[in-house]
Amino acid sequence: MAAGEVEQLTEAEARAELARLAEAIAAANRAYHTLDAPEISDAEFDALKRRNLAIEARFPGLKRADSPSEQVGAAAADGFGKVTHDVRMLSLENAFADSDITDFDDRVRKYLGAQVALTYTAEPKIDGLSLSLRYERGALVQAATRGDGEIGENVTENARTIADIPQKLINAPDLLEVRGEVYMSHADFAALNQRQAAKGEKLFANPRNAAAGSLRQLDPRITAARPLRFFAYAWGALSAPLAQTQFEAIARLNQLGFQTNPLTVLCAGPVEMVAQYRRIEADRASLGYDIDGVVYKVNDLALQARLGFRSATPRWAIAHKFAAELAWTRLEAIDIQVGRTGALSPVARLMPVTVGGVVVANATLHNEDYIAGRDAKGAPIREGRDIRVGDWVQVYRAGDVIPKIADVDISRRPDDAQPYVFPDICPECGSVAHREPGDAVRRCTGGLICPAQAVERLKHFVSRAAFDIEGLGAKQVEMFFHDADLPVKTPADIFTLEKRDEDNGLKRLKNRDGFGETSARKLFAAIRAKRTIALDRLIFGLGIRHVGEVAAGLLARHYATWEAFEAAITHAQPGSPEWAELTAIDGVGGVLAGSLVAAFQNGAERAAMDALVAELSVQAVHARAPVDSPVAGKTVVFTGTLEKMTRAEAKARAEALGAKVAGSVSAKTDLLIAGPGAGSKAKDAEKHGVKVIDEDGWLALIGQA
Ligand code: IVH
Repeated sequence: MAAGEVEQLTEAEARAELARLAEAIAAANRAYHTLDAPEISDAEFDALKRRNLAIEARFPGLKRADSPSEQVGAAAADGFGKVTHDVRMLSLENAFADSDITDFDDRVRKYLGAQVALTYTAEPKIDGLSLSLRYERGALVQAATRGDGEIGENVTENARTIADIPQKLINAPDLLEVRGEVYMSHADFAALNQRQAAKGEKLFANPRNAAAGSLRQLDPRITAARPLRFFAYAWGALSAPLAQTQFEAIARLNQLGFQTNPLTVLCAGPVEMVAQYRRIEADRASLGYDIDGVVYKVNDLALQARLGFRSATPRWAIAHKFAAELAWTRLEAIDIQVGRTGALSPVARLMPVTVGGVVVANATLHNEDYIAGRDAKGAPIREGRDIRVGDWVQVYRAGDVIPKIADVDISRRPDDAQPYVFPDICPECGSVAHREPGDAVRRCTGGLICPAQAVERLKHFVSRAAFDIEGLGAKQVEMFFHDADLPVKTPADIFTLEKRDEDNGLKRLKNRDGFGETSARKLFAAIRAKRTIALDRLIFGLGIRHVGEVAAGLLARHYATWEAFEAAITHAQPGSPEWAELTAIDGVGGVLAGSLVAAFQNGAERAAMDALVAELSVQAVHARAPVDSPVAGKTVVFTGTLEKMTRAEAKARAEALGAKVAGSVSAKTDLLIAGPGAGSKAKDAEKHGVKVIDEDGWLALIGQA
């Protein structure tokens, strides 16, 4: 059937045709990827996908939930499906100095309290991207990238093309999520770049980028043509434990058919850990793939479970990173960038130089003191050498972080080089740039009238952890911000975009270069979808200084609804009950509270917030996945000495059971757990009529006696 006939289809015919196409495309995908036996040519396959898209464009309402245009492998698909991880994918705390490893061991011991024999595994930290593979009854059913740790991208079809990833497991738990790193070897990377060069296509900066770019291909055939590999080193959801120790669990994964890193060893403590780090570092260049450090993990899985997690990293593991890579180059200029909270950040413009395989032309200079050669307390850094335009400077980068300037070579300083004068007015809006005593950073005082702050706020607003609006990234925000016909200056403007566009006649988005009907429609649909938003995302999205993702979550869970939150913050003043309640939230300090209250009192900020909320339907956020435990939803306070576990562990366990742990006793406290030596808190409890129990009583209550 020729594509032109799409115009003649009735709605009923179109519906049937979309069903037929979904099936045909899925069958072709299966034949190609899973069975490795293509049944139709690439051109035929592309024609099916184009036809599907054309019908969907004409009948948007008929688009199927399983539409091939939403799936990996579809032409012009605008992304991958999303996968919510059953068990969050975490990152690792970083360590650089050997002493950090002793500190880590001390922390683990302290947390666990009693004298325990501790062994650790040490293994290379693979420089690739993490992937979670879900097996049900032995069959690979889903592969997802880490994403933000909670929600990743569904790259199942692509993962199926990786030879190191088994499609079937024998004798595995019914449910098993295997986690590990997708990477590319040095040899494969070099060959790939040669092929890219021969085709006149873009070269990859390093094997990690090549691996990421290859895995995140919308067309799995491209992934299949790229030689990706996979090392398994962890797991997520499980229906039965793999083993009792990390080391045995890895061995088990290896028996199941996964590649596991042969350099994984057991260590008796920090001395052996650092020794293994040195051995791996010495072997680094000859491994044939990139690693960027060594990961240590507590070996005993029962202890891992007790140690648990902080917000984004486990307490039982740490990454010991290799030293950064260095290079010398000339500093050509210093530019000032104004960030979301008004911070003036100096950026070094450099003569481009290769640092560890990546071309670097920009680096951060931190702040004005750093340029002047002193730290925040006025003590000299770099022996007091300042940095001037024209200087030769040493650039370094560690992992994926922004390159930094480490040092300056004064012997090569041009005679006419002048000390850098840090601006005291904002280069973007001309407002005074003020530096608070004790703050390392100078900030523009223009607030939302500063275009740089306003646009950075918008970028933050649409970012992943905030509103995460598909098709509206930093680039598009920048474009709309400066758009004369369809300006977006505040978050509320995003939600009036579609309506305003309808009044724009020929200047409508769909008629513009680089937009077109489909992308305009998709953008508006993506925006509409985010009119309903969870309270924590909204609070984080507001971009208030000091209110990060974790704090936003705490606030949202505490106040539950926007109305309650707004009323509380509006009335919070030091001394008021609302202020006391706010600062009693564990994790909310005076600085954060002050910043929040100030934002709510600022006229322009408040107007922008009100306009935004008027466009939204805000979803209440309740305490984390309601836990079925006798203390769920209760507010508890620990005081005095605990004998069976440390305070930190007690708190983490209580929280895992759904309790709120507060720092002080108030009328809202449900329970005080008092060990020997309890002082004023016990008296407060008496005053407020709060029930008091001892540690054994607590353990009995939570069923862990
Ligand atoms: S363990 C809960 N082991 O490093 C801990 N991670 O910086 C899960 N990585 O997101 C991670 N090699 O992508 C672990 N041997 C290894 C690793 C490793 C590389 C990556 C992983 C993680 C990132 C954290």
